[in-house]
Amino acid sequence: MRIRNVIAFLATMAMAATALAQQPIVIKFSHVVALDTPKGLAAEYFKKLAEERTKGRVKVEVYPNSQLYKDKEELEALQIGAVQMLAPSMAKFGPMGLREFEAFDLPYLFDDYKELHRVTQGPIGQIFLKKLDSKGIVGLAFWDNGFKVMSANKPLRKPEDFKGLKMRIQSSKVLDSQMRALGAIPQVMAFSEVYQALQTGVVDGTENPVSNLYTQKMNEVQKYLTVSNHGYLGYTLIANKKFWDGLPADIRTTLEGAVKDATKYANDLAQKKNDEDLESVRKTGKTQIITLTPQEKLEWKKALVKVHREQESKIGKELLQSIYKETGFDPGKL
Ligand code: LMR
Repeated sequence: MRIRNVIAFLATMAMAATALAQQPIVIKFSHVVALDTPKGLAAEYFKKLAEERTKGRVKVEVYPNSQLYKDKEELEALQIGAVQMLAPSMAKFGPMGLREFEAFDLPYLFDDYKELHRVTQGPIGQIFLKKLDSKGIVGLAFWDNGFKVMSANKPLRKPEDFKGLKMRIQSSKVLDSQMRALGAIPQVMAFSEVYQALQTGVVDGTENPVSNLYTQKMNEVQKYLTVSNHGYLGYTLIANKKFWDGLPADIRTTLEGAVKDATKYANDLAQKKNDEDLESVRKTGKTQIITLTPQEKLEWKKALVKVHREQESKIGKELLQSIYKETGFDPGKL
């Protein structure tokens, strides 16, 4: 009788152990934008690759649209391990003491994606990713969104047009300095709150790549949009370091492959998505789209170049010089 009990007990334990071994590893991936955006689509693609290639041993749960956490909260959640992956914009790393990432917010630093990729996809990009280690974060890759437009309920053609406007920004000192250089009043606000703030007049205008603006319907409450391309907004794909380092080696290798392919997908898609969304805004006929002439663009550049000088020491002079070398941007020439 006793022996039979012991056998039954061992059998139950073995079944429990097998069940446990079959439990998938769950990755919660939280983000703040809509599904139909460069980041939203890339997160879904990563999920698909990760689940297929690990044959279900990994399950990726994507939570878009600030469903789980808003901007600042999501980084805290990652650090305590409440979620395992995120792709915050570079501007979001400043408040955690990584002001270097705000270099990506500098006005007119990159003329196009090609210049940007010389930084993000080259050795400097690796230096940035490494900087996350000290925060308990693994930097995995850079995902593009795009170049920003400015919007408001009045036309924004010249730097003077910004005078006194309350402009929503992300939590970046560089963006704060940028709006002040234009004579505007910057207001830091979580992404999920921007539509309502624009609608109710808490802020007058905002900046973002058009994919973010359109998918949050911000264009419905903004009469004018200027295609200024005055700055870049993109993402660092990150994971909780303890989680990532603790993965079985074969799983981590497979996930690294999925990251690589999802990054290519994201970066091939970003510009197309932004171009399409600009056309969609145009088609509504409700928001007037302003394109700057070369002379107007030069005026913006001249008004904004001082942001580079003001922020240089906080970003790190040497790092910034190495970025200038890659992009060819020379603040002294303006
Ligand atoms: C914003 O807050 O405007 C953006 O960072 C949102 C995003 O993640 O693209």
